[in-house]
Amino acid sequence: MKLDRRTVLMQGAAAFALTLPGTQALAATRRNRIVTPILRRKIVTRPNIHSLALNDADLQAYRDAVKAMKALPASDARNWTKQAEIHNNFCPHRNWFFLPWHRAYLVAFERICRQLSGKHDFALPYWDWTANPQLPAAFADPNFNGQPNPLFDGNRSSQTVSIAAVWAGQSVISQIDNEPTFEAFASTKPASSGGAQPWRNPATEGLLESSPHDHVHTSISGDMGTFMSPLDPIFWLHHCNIDRIWDRWNRNGHANTTDTSWLDMTFTNHFVNAQGNPYTTKVSNNLNIGLLGYRYPPQFRIPPWYLALAVNFSKIPPVEKINPGALRIREPVAAAVRLNTEQIQRFDRLRSIKIAPRPTGAPPTGAAPVAPAAPVTRATSRVIAFIRDVPPPAKGNADVRVFVNMPNANAETPATDPHYAGGFTFFGTGQHGGHDHGTHSYMIDLTPALIALKEQPTDKIDLKLVAVPIAGVSSEGFEVKPGSIEIAIF
Ligand code: C2O
Repeated sequence: MKLDRRTVLMQGAAAFALTLPGTQALAATRRNRIVTPILRRKIVTRPNIHSLALNDADLQAYRDAVKAMKALPASDARNWTKQAEIHNNFCPHRNWFFLPWHRAYLVAFERICRQLSGKHDFALPYWDWTANPQLPAAFADPNFNGQPNPLFDGNRSSQTVSIAAVWAGQSVISQIDNEPTFEAFASTKPASSGGAQPWRNPATEGLLESSPHDHVHTSISGDMGTFMSPLDPIFWLHHCNIDRIWDRWNRNGHANTTDTSWLDMTFTNHFVNAQGNPYTTKVSNNLNIGLLGYRYPPQFRIPPWYLALAVNFSKIPPVEKINPGALRIREPVAAAVRLNTEQIQRFDRLRSIKIAPRPTGAPPTGAAPVAPAAPVTRATSRVIAFIRDVPPPAKGNADVRVFVNMPNANAETPATDPHYAGGFTFFGTGQHGGHDHGTHSYMIDLTPALIALKEQPTDKIDLKLVAVPIAGVSSEGFEVKPGSIEIAIF
């Protein structure tokens, strides 16, 4: 059998099989694949950055690694800018390769950090922007211990930026945690599998990508607003949290797609191993984080009955007052969409979506305290708006909020309004990604808003799209102009 150097380095489990001959080696390899990762390789727990003191050993190892990577010559593939170029050149966004590609990218990066910091059990921290929306202190200060802080990035919109609850708050995350459909959770399958970079063909962003993922990027802005975003050391902690939410979704019993065009997609030489050599991996080798050598602290999902209560009583989180300031956001567009058979037919592939029946009655005993039990609205169907082919702002960036059946919504209508259904922003429209001047497509689940409004879905739903500025980011002259809006009832 042949094991190439890359396989051995990146999947250390099989390493000692090389010294054994013939069938014995094969058997050992097989055994090792199952047993070794558990017995021989320590599985590290990726920590919450907010649980770490400023002088914590993992945090210091991260500073050391970033500093070392910034000091490496550009001829070394582990060089800091080279690492960001991997993202710019290969990252899939707005399709279902988004999650596995970024998982593999983080695993490779974490191993480089171990190598360069010398801390061999280093685990990449995650930033839980739902529980702690403010940029972690360790990243915000230009200096640490009287030295330049390697985790600081002076290009951010501000060093005290806080991620708004409307994009990443608990009710948004609960809705994502409880999303039953892989493609609505994880972004959709590209229509085409051809082209030079088939893993990058555009599709429609799912809820995890369009809400918290994109908005953390664009709220921080600067490097984070572009495909060179890994230049900002917070990038890696942001994606660690996205990865954690995916793992939690799986652990809570939600299955990934079994489509072989997803499982077999191979990212050939996209990544770099700890020694600076190319590393190839495929989607199906990135679905079990224990085998990749890490885990997250135990995670719990907000149960569906709580979500149903939340939809009724507190779906819309408090959000800071919107201040359109002096920025010029033009009159928003309104779209009245009438469903017809043809539009519904177009969603055949997704029509198997069924909303999980929501249990009624009292919460289980011993559960976290919630609002008093009350009649729960049972959703019999889902209503999802597909907002397609939206051209991003020519310069700067903006958020877009989507209101249901509220024709007079405007930039000052708060997201706490019950007519608010969700929103999106434009990540990766940056100066760097030469290939990426295309339009963006999103899906917004209108169901919770329709339930909260006690409005039954009918054959006519009005959507109003309102552009609002992002604090500290220009959005000069931006108008929202989707190519089309389609509404599907499942
Ligand atoms: Cu490929 Cu959040 O970036």
